[in-house]
Order: sequence, then C-alpha cells, then structure tokens
Amino acid sequence: MKFFADTADTGEIRELAATGLLDGVTTNPSLIKKSGRKLFEVLEEICTIVDGPVSAETVALDYETMLKEGQKLSKISKNIAIKVPMTVAGLKTCKALRADRIMVNVTLCFSATQALLAAKAGATYISPFVGRLDDVSEDGMELIGDIRLIYDNYNFQTQILVASIRNPLHVLEAARIGADVATIPAAIMKQLFKHPLTDKGLEAFLKDWKKTGESIL
Ligand code: G3P
Repeated sequence: MKFFADTADTGEIRELAATGLLDGVTTNPSLIKKSGRKLFEVLEEICTIVDGPVSAETVALDYETMLKEGQKLSKISKNIAIKVPMTVAGLKTCKALRADRIMVNVTLCFSATQALLAAKAGATYISPFVGRLDDVSEDGMELIGDIRLIYDNYNFQTQILVASIRNPLHVLEAARIGADVATIPAAIMKQLFKHPLTDKGLEAFLKDWKKTGESIL
C-alpha cells in the first residue's frame, strides 16, 4: 500500500520524506489555507521534495473553468495529480484531463456509486473520506470494502486512495481491505512507527549492552 502525506506543510513533508517511506502528497484548499502560503509557491516546493504524485485541487464549480484550472495546475510539475470534486462537472473534467494523460484524483467521495462513476470516468485515484463518514455514524471502512469489491469485479484501474484518516486503525483496515493508497496526516503517520513494547524492549537491550562494556565501532 502506498503512503501519501495529507498536508501542505513542507516541514512535515520533508520530515516524512526523509524516512524513505513517503510515496506522495495530497493537498486540498483547507490544507493550503492552513499552510499560510501561496498555492503555486507551496505546490512547486512540495514537487521538489517528493517524486510521487502531489494532489492539487481545483476550486471552480463549472466544467469549463475547472478544466482550465486543472490544465494550469498540471503545468507546475509532471507529478501533479489534479483533484476534482465528485460532481458532474468534476467527472467531465476528469475525462478531459485523463484524455491528456494528466493524473486525476476524484475527491469528496462518500458512496460506492460515486466511486463507480469516478472509475467509469477514468479517474487515476478515488478519495473516499472515511473519517467524515464515521463522524456521521456511517461506517467509512465499509465503503472502502464495497469500492474494493466493485473495482475488482470489473477490473477498474482506478486506485482507492483512503482519505480523511483519523487514526492508525483506519490505515490498518485500509491495508486489510486492499486499498491502494492511504493519505495520512503527519502526526498519524508518525504514530504508525510507535509501540510501547518496542520502546521497552530497546531500552532493556541497551541497558544490558551497556553492561558488557563492549562497543561495535
Ligand atoms: O484529503 C482529505 C482530507 O484532508 C480530509 O480530512 O480530517 O478534514 O476529513 P478531514
């Protein structure tokens, strides 16, 4: 499963990229606002940090303007994926951008029928928001399972990019189901490394090693 960082904070992205385990980045208008930086400036910098896909979101609601925005954003770098909303205009834009071999990430997906439409539109990625479904007492991970089943039934090549991840169990369940990508906030990605028994075991090893009086180097 690929790990993308769900952030526009270049400091967080650099830290995660240094682990060698970061496969891409997703941004959205809220994350850009949170960064406090200009859209094109921060996207250009992110594209110099990671080679993998970097999602940049359109903000128009009509097809013609959304397409122009997507075409302009795609010129930032070859690894830019254009994020479009799960709407009629969004899927029309998806088809047009894909015809030009531009990666497209269809976002704000909350149902399996939406995911089916996005795959038919040739989306590179579909972004179901599991945390926001959980927030309204729907089972976000059940949606991921439904999409996985449907995509496998028809051999759709659209990649399931699990978004709105709120805890490590979302990542675990996404991997169990066979999602292609998890886009993870930096703090949660760091949590994936941690286990108290690892810390305890390491401390015990080093305490015993110190008693040997030996050194490796
Ligand atoms: O990529 C979408 C993600 O940023 C949304 O997360 O926590 O605002 O639902 P959240």
